[in-house]
Amino acid sequence: MPPDQPTVVIAGVGRFGALHARVWTEAGARIVGMCDVDPDRVGAVAARFAVQEKDTLLPRLLDRVRPDAVIVATDEASHAELAITALEAGCHVFVEKPLALSSDDAWRIHATAGSVGRQVVVGQISRFAAPYARMQRSVEQGRVGRLCALRLRRDFSRSWYLAFGERVHPVWESCIHDIDLAIAFVNEPVSRVMAIQSRAASEAAPSVVSALLEFEGGVSATVESAWLLPESAPQTLAGALELSGAIAAEMEALGLEGVLRQRLLGDNLVEWTNAGSFVPDLSLWPDDDGVVGGALRREVDYALDVFRGRRAPDRIPLHQVCWAVATAEAVVESLHHNKAVHLTRDPRDIEVSS
Ligand SMILES: NC(=O)c1ccc[n+]([C@@H]2O[C@H](COP(=O)([O-])OP(=O)(O)OC[C@H]3O[C@@H](n4cnc5c(N)ncnc54)[C@H](O)[C@@H]3O)[C@@H](O)[C@H]2O)c1
Repeated sequence: MPPDQPTVVIAGVGRFGALHARVWTEAGARIVGMCDVDPDRVGAVAARFAVQEKDTLLPRLLDRVRPDAVIVATDEASHAELAITALEAGCHVFVEKPLALSSDDAWRIHATAGSVGRQVVVGQISRFAAPYARMQRSVEQGRVGRLCALRLRRDFSRSWYLAFGERVHPVWESCIHDIDLAIAFVNEPVSRVMAIQSRAASEAAPSVVSALLEFEGGVSATVESAWLLPESAPQTLAGALELSGAIAAEMEALGLEGVLRQRLLGDNLVEWTNAGSFVPDLSLWPDDDGVVGGALRREVDYALDVFRGRRAPDRIPLHQVCWAVATAEAVVESLHHNKAVHLTRDPRDIEVSS
């Protein structure tokens, strides 16, 4: 990849794909093509960014333009197929979370990236949110002593369930952030999962999930998620994304010599206006003097550095993301069958992470 201005194609220009288009441009990349199965949507977003090449099919677009990297920001079910298409076309790939909806697909992407010699960066944005990143460093530096347990919680607006919550199990939308964080902190695969979802909530929003994870070395983690925040909850996400609502997330790390606690979206700025009550997110994709900043910009800068060969892909190692996909898959299985699920290591995993 030339160091000056990397070229990218955006696949999926919905709410988050359009935000990616802005952030990759602000980070110095040049968008040379856009693709979306919705022709009206791709026409409108391509016009907004003055992009000439557009299509409804990624393989057809890649026959005409060959970018340095493809950004996959489509619906979750198409991530694996599009990532492999882009890798086989010789491109680096940035894939929004979740990397895939099965561990088999995740390891297939891992293997393809290895065989074509291209990088895959997964949009596990929470790893770049300053409070989580600081906590992870503290744990790695031994500031809480031996890590015993993690507690993670993430609540979303109820209205989001109608917007996109139903297209995959919500575990793949919300819990995947926290499963990935837990894996980043422990740096081991999960060996056992037990999960339940609230039957009382099942009609309104079948998405109140509590999962217990056990890591190979004995650390335990709880991951909880509910999409029940009412419209009256202070808005945290009004702004750059074409979706407003609230995320309330918390994490604790408990060690033999200390405990760390944080809330992702703190209450350090509160706005009560005639338009409503806001607690603006200053961590994920805040407006930073007209430019999108925060975790999303750091994630894109990181991906560009990895693609340019300027740094190792060590902030989001791909095998850790494959562990996260396998764990989410086990959570969904545990919910469906109402039983504990034991995870066995994939042979491809033993090869790369031993
Ligand atoms: N990291 C985060 O915090 C975060 C936040 C929001 C969304 N996301 C992720 O971003 C992705 C997109 O979410 P969204 O909210 O923008 O959804 P969206 O529905 O607004 O956009 C998805 C777009 O992809 C298009 N599409 C679907 N299948 C396609 C295919 N095979 N080829 C080309 N285009 C296709 C759709 O037409 C749509 O325009 C999801 O994976 C979601 O989980 C991540």
